[in-house]
Amino acid sequence: MTETKDPVEGLSSRERHAKDAAPPHDEARVPRVVAAAHVAVAHGTQLKMRAKDLSVRYGEKVAIRDVSIDVHANEVLALIGPSGCGKSTFLRSLNRMNDTVPGVGVDGHVELDGEPIYGPQVDPVLVRRRVGMVFQRSNPFPKSIFENVAYGLRIAGVRERSVIAERVERALRHAAIWDEVKDRLHESGLSLSGGQQQRLCIARALAVEPEVLLMDEPASALDPIATAKIEDLVSNLRSELTIVIVTHNMQQAARVSQRTGFFYMGKLVEVGDTTTIFTRPKQRDTEDYITGRFG
Ligand SMILES: Nc1ncnc2c1ncn2[C@@H]1O[C@H](COP(=O)(O)OP(=O)(O)OP(=O)(O)O)[C@@H](O)[C@H]1O
Ligand SMILES: [Mg+2]
Repeated sequence: MTETKDPVEGLSSRERHAKDAAPPHDEARVPRVVAAAHVAVAHGTQLKMRAKDLSVRYGEKVAIRDVSIDVHANEVLALIGPSGCGKSTFLRSLNRMNDTVPGVGVDGHVELDGEPIYGPQVDPVLVRRRVGMVFQRSNPFPKSIFENVAYGLRIAGVRERSVIAERVERALRHAAIWDEVKDRLHESGLSLSGGQQQRLCIARALAVEPEVLLMDEPASALDPIATAKIEDLVSNLRSELTIVIVTHNMQQAARVSQRTGFFYMGKLVEVGDTTTIFTRPKQRDTEDYITGRFG
């Protein structure tokens, strides 16, 4: 199907019509969620992203090799594995963030809704709008709380002040931080606590309404209370989007994810239902890792 994409928001004409017709508040997203859930119930899992034989090199050094994995719609997929095994490299290849690293080489395929994201016709900026990312260390801009969240919308060409204000509020609510910041929206994002800054960064990523959110150890620098808030948030966001989360914390993977993939030395060793991976893994390396024998 050859649908034209809106150059500003990266939406197909069909998506734009649906969006324009939708009411301008939270309920606007409900039909898509219900539709996705319906498909999942009716036909089993729905595929959101697929990596096939994906390899990534930094210069001569191969960081991941022949990784094939499916990401299901509205799931939380956790990626675990020892330091240096390629988790972040893999995550960045799902929204072409690796393109920004000099000397990187990517082979293989990644699809989003069945369409390849690598390829001469594809604009990586639009891919990143649909597949957002949150990093290990929160990195608010030295701007107000409001402007941190509005940033992506302004870059995307959204001009109308009421639309921006409405979407900033919606994103802050989705990131479970609205009540804490609603009376201080014009203070600096840097004035927030570490846990609040991380939720602000999640709000910033959510403001452009991504379909997939990639999270690279989003809670590893946070205390247990802030971590619990991020975990609750991840669990709640799943009804609206698809999440791939890298974590070193296996309890966290067990708490928030439905499926888990174990990486080791640049390879995906196995992926499966989270309970199965943590109780009856098929591979010896997975068992050794989850029982703490290495890594
Ligand atoms: N920008 C880069 N340039 C060169 N090599 C890199 C770069 N980023 C990662 N690597 C290498 O690629 C391999 C995989 O790194 P990656 O960061 O993906 O691992 P990781 O599993 O996320 O590790 P960690 O758990 O420590 O974050 C490592 O050997 C790393 O040194
Ligand atoms: Mg990493």
